[in-house]
Amino acid sequence: MFLEERRNKILDYLDKYERVSVTYLATAFEVTKETIRSDLNELALQGLVQRCHGGAIILRRSLQATLITETGDNFEVLLQRLSNQRKNHLVQDKGKNMQGKVCILGSFNVDIVAKVERFPKGGESLLALGSTLGPGGKGANQATAASLAGTKVHFVAKVGKDQFSQFAFDHLSSSKIHSFTLYQSDTEPTGNAIIYVSQQDGENMIAIYSGANTTITDEEVAAITTDLSDANVLLVQLENNFDATLNTIKLAKTLDIQVILNPAPYSSDALACLEYIDIITPNETEASLLSGIEITDLASAKEAALRIVGLGAKRVIITMGSRGALILDGSQFQHIPAFPAFSVDTTGAGDAFNGALAAAIAKGQTIAQAATYAAAFASLAVEREGASNMPQHQQVMTRLSQR
Ligand code: ATP
Ligand code: RIB
Repeated sequence: MFLEERRNKILDYLDKYERVSVTYLATAFEVTKETIRSDLNELALQGLVQRCHGGAIILRRSLQATLITETGDNFEVLLQRLSNQRKNHLVQDKGKNMQGKVCILGSFNVDIVAKVERFPKGGESLLALGSTLGPGGKGANQATAASLAGTKVHFVAKVGKDQFSQFAFDHLSSSKIHSFTLYQSDTEPTGNAIIYVSQQDGENMIAIYSGANTTITDEEVAAITTDLSDANVLLVQLENNFDATLNTIKLAKTLDIQVILNPAPYSSDALACLEYIDIITPNETEASLLSGIEITDLASAKEAALRIVGLGAKRVIITMGSRGALILDGSQFQHIPAFPAFSVDTTGAGDAFNGALAAAIAKGQTIAQAATYAAAFASLAVEREGASNMPQHQQVMTRLSQR
């Protein structure tokens, strides 16, 4: 059982019985008393329980728990309750500090990467020049990027019960990501991606099996209310079941949180949520599909951006690889040129851009400042092998200062 799962179970127990001893929990979970003490101390630090001699008593179960019980897990009722509470000032104001906070609901995949001299043709077998197995998934990569960009991140994902779930847990635990909720599916395996990276230009080809990423339930979305409520920005992509993504977006809007949608990989589902989105960040392919306008240059990218706003999005950033990014904010266009880079692996360039963008927006930067920071961040990411291999904030500042 994951540490977080155990802590949630402790809270559930306390909800029901209000008091518990260390000895009881250690026996029930088959762990040492020391482990339980550290769980209770952490929960006490989060203000969820109060330590007492030999155990803990319930102090305050989070807002989320009360809402879930009271609403019988009905998502629309939950949104209505939150909205009423906001009107009556019962929902705590976001702890907006200098650092900001980004909440990301997204995918975790295991990336199996083969470095090849060139992409194989159909029916052809090629010898790879190298191969790695590592953490990936757009959600996890973006969470890593946002954390390294210097903001607090809460990441929500779902994996299977296979050997890769422990891999996911260990990766997230040892990463810079501040906190995470990792659900486990009984039926689907951890998502994976088979990736070819060509030596010729660092370009990639990817086949994704989403697995557990597409099994997030309404109840699991409702359970992140507390972690979401003090975030400045929610960042989502399209690698999860869309109903979960849409519900999280609606939850964020009810809590008055800015929403950034990276509509990747493309799905027409994106069109169904544009009205709730503050910033949409398609790449050229996704923007062409969303708008029906084929992007070949800056002029056609501008047309596509206008069309996407016409469809309901508030602000658009079209990322255009080494051609940089185009912002449409109101009626104002701004082109952010790419920072010169020696590209070795472009896998995750979009993730680097989106994570860094969300972090900078959460810290209070303007969209143009944030996109410039994100472009510098992504230019460093394409110089590194591996989709989740992101640069440090200080390196980004140095690159920015060189422009
Ligand atoms: P991927 O799907 O490979 O993760 P993407 O297609 O979503 O990437 P891109 O538009 O290729 O995203 O890249 C995102 C941003 O990263 C660009 O807007 C740009 O700022 C930066 N970038 C990408 N490729 C390069 C490059 N070769 N040199 C410098 N910057 C780059
Ligand atoms: O954007 C790159 C990511 O897309 C990879 O890590 C892969 O897992 C897929 O989700």
